[in-house]
Amino acid sequence: MGKKDKPEGKVGVEAQEEAGYHVPVLLHETIGGLAIKPGGVYVDCTFGGGGHSREILKQLGPEGTLIAFDQDEDAQRNLPDDSRVLFVPHNFRHLKRFLKLHGFPEVDGVMADLGVSSHQFDEARRGFSTRFDADLDMRMDRRQERTAFHILNTYGEAELHKLFEQYGEVTNSKTLARKIVEVRGLGPIKTIAGFKTSMHPIVKGNPNKYFAQVFQALRIEVNDELGALKDMLVQIPQVLKSGGRAAIITFHSLEDRLVKVFFRDGDFELEEDEVFGGKKSVSELVLVNRKPITASEEELRRNSRSRSAKLRVAEKKG
Ligand SMILES: C[S@@+](CC[C@H](N)C(=O)[O-])C[C@H]1O[C@@H](n2cnc3c(N)ncnc32)[C@H](O)[C@@H]1O
Repeated sequence: MGKKDKPEGKVGVEAQEEAGYHVPVLLHETIGGLAIKPGGVYVDCTFGGGGHSREILKQLGPEGTLIAFDQDEDAQRNLPDDSRVLFVPHNFRHLKRFLKLHGFPEVDGVMADLGVSSHQFDEARRGFSTRFDADLDMRMDRRQERTAFHILNTYGEAELHKLFEQYGEVTNSKTLARKIVEVRGLGPIKTIAGFKTSMHPIVKGNPNKYFAQVFQALRIEVNDELGALKDMLVQIPQVLKSGGRAAIITFHSLEDRLVKVFFRDGDFELEEDEVFGGKKSVSELVLVNRKPITASEEELRRNSRSRSAKLRVAEKKG
């Protein structure tokens, strides 16, 4: 999509924010971390409601460029009418390819605010929320085929067990996987309400918390969130200019660990060597902050979603 392309008759970013599309987290910390040069080229990998993008645009001069990715077509309605913006309606795992395609092989900064937007959660028919009944969907990109329905009805018991354990830390993930296989033997599991009802006998602890963990695991798998993050991270040093910055906001420990390890070591191979003090970093990035940045007391009061947010910022070596 070209610089000015934008669905017609839609309202601007400010109005969308007011209408509750999404409240950006760690806004000033992230934009501050990017150390924006007014004439630079910046990438927002997760445009969403455009909160971070709008702040980047405020700091860019007329010569600056913002390239915004989002794989959800709904995000396009928030695009500002601004000739400095180029929108890429694709997965950020293809970062390098699309930057090259649009004539920006190198950029001054890349940011990402991972996960789903409040809008995606609040749209019942998208199937992300345990609060509503809908089809088991959970796709950010509705062009893709795999949905939560597909996972629940076709994955093997061992695969289901692993994903609920790893991505949701569901305490009885083995029992859950067995129950899913048993229930779907009687007919496909089609809806959120149907799924919750049929799993009711094996729920442990608070059902809201339990299903929140189960849904998180399904969402991560449907959208291959960790795979996309890894693909994007390895491309960051390849697209950043020397001195360029990367700022990534994560919302759970598996994501944060990938960002932390990649920024520090330049790969994802963990720790065995570290135990013996032998691991040598091949990272082309240096950390700007040793510790992750978290939300202030004020932001925590204002936006509960900021509770689990962690921002890490790195700079490409000169
Ligand atoms: C947390 S929201 C971003 C909110 C945004 N920073 C704001 O201030 O409104 C994440 C957005 O990134 C998109 N997204 C998540 N993973 C993506 C991926 N791998 N590729 C492209 N877009 C992605 C989602 O569709 C969603 O709109």
